[in-house]
Amino acid sequence: MTHAKARQIVLAARPHGKPQLTDFRLEETGVPTPRAGQVLLKVRYLSLDPYMRGRMDDRQSYAQPVPLGGVMEGESVATVIASHHPSYAEGDIVLAKTGWCTHALSDRADLRKLDPAVAPVTTWLGVLGMPGFTAYAGVRLIGTPQPRDTVVVAAASGPVGSLVGQLAQLAGARAVGIAGGSEKCAFVQDELRFDAAVNHRAVDFPAQLAAACPNGIDVYFENVGGAIWQAVLPLLNPFARIPVCGLIAQYNGVGQGDGTDWLPATMRALLSKSLTLRGFIYTEFAEQHYAAFLREVGAGIADGRIRYREDIVDGLEQAPEAFIGMLEGRNFGKLIVRVDA
Ligand SMILES: NC(=O)c1ccc[n+]([C@@H]2O[C@H](COP(=O)([O-])OP(=O)(O)OC[C@H]3O[C@@H](n4cnc5c(N)ncnc54)[C@H](OP(=O)(O)O)[C@@H]3O)[C@@H](O)[C@H]2O)c1
Repeated sequence: MTHAKARQIVLAARPHGKPQLTDFRLEETGVPTPRAGQVLLKVRYLSLDPYMRGRMDDRQSYAQPVPLGGVMEGESVATVIASHHPSYAEGDIVLAKTGWCTHALSDRADLRKLDPAVAPVTTWLGVLGMPGFTAYAGVRLIGTPQPRDTVVVAAASGPVGSLVGQLAQLAGARAVGIAGGSEKCAFVQDELRFDAAVNHRAVDFPAQLAAACPNGIDVYFENVGGAIWQAVLPLLNPFARIPVCGLIAQYNGVGQGDGTDWLPATMRALLSKSLTLRGFIYTEFAEQHYAAFLREVGAGIADGRIRYREDIVDGLEQAPEAFIGMLEGRNFGKLIVRVDA
């Protein structure tokens, strides 16, 4: 250890429902010294993502929970500030699974070197990173929109949803975005150029969604669950495809809100309309399809056909508040913490 200080945010308590600031703890530690085969990373940008809510619970899932007292999990863009690893040099910028902290050691083979000349480094956390690839995999490999299909996605201004609609349009489909509030809806329609945007906070949201989908829904990319699924269900066309990507409305474990059990209606629709409902985690497709995604979406960003928005918050200590806000829709675009740019 050197005398310099590092900071990290650990899981202090497991939340019951909505996370509270007291579920997190900011700690100061020494900056660790890398040994042979290791690099020392200084975090520049930390990604905050909805999946982190699941890691706070001690519950069976596709990934291990963060232990109590453990550093919150997360991916970041970091600079190598000391290297005892033959493949990395001081000054290299990498994508790394550091967690919520200012400094981290790594000896991992999964560090990815980033070239800032190719795209702004923050895009590797959003549109060119895990969320972007998730959109690509769900649309291209499960949703498979056809020309003139109607594709609907919620959390449409976020990193997954924004790319879902744009990829649907590139396939010749009509993209309808659902977002929380008029400012987000204006962005989805005017900046991302979706064909329509509907505010799920409007009292007549189901009627507005029906009006925006006069020919029904052929692909519903499920990001949210809860009340939005209820509004989508009657609009689904026979043989509709439903990539089930996320259920953010349910992550805090507060149920559907109105006490209605939508499973019987869902199962009835599955059967009577021959729907395809397919859950997925992006890792399933990464090995085979990540390179094609980078080529296609990277080119789309470079020539301006694909647009994205980032919401950058300053300071590691702001991460818990920003994360809690994301679970309530307070972020506007890919949520990133600038730790030390
Ligand atoms: N399967 C996978 O491999 C995979 C990978 C990445 C992400 N995901 C999932 O994809 C979804 C989108 O993720 P993202 O990274 O693009 O994040 P994101 O869009 O930034 O997610 C946050 C947004 O979700 C919406 N939201 C939050 N609580 C809501 C609620 N109760 N009801 C309705 N909307 C709510 C809000 O948007 P509005 O204000 O517009 O409602 C909020 O801004 C999440 O469910 C995530 O877990 C899955």
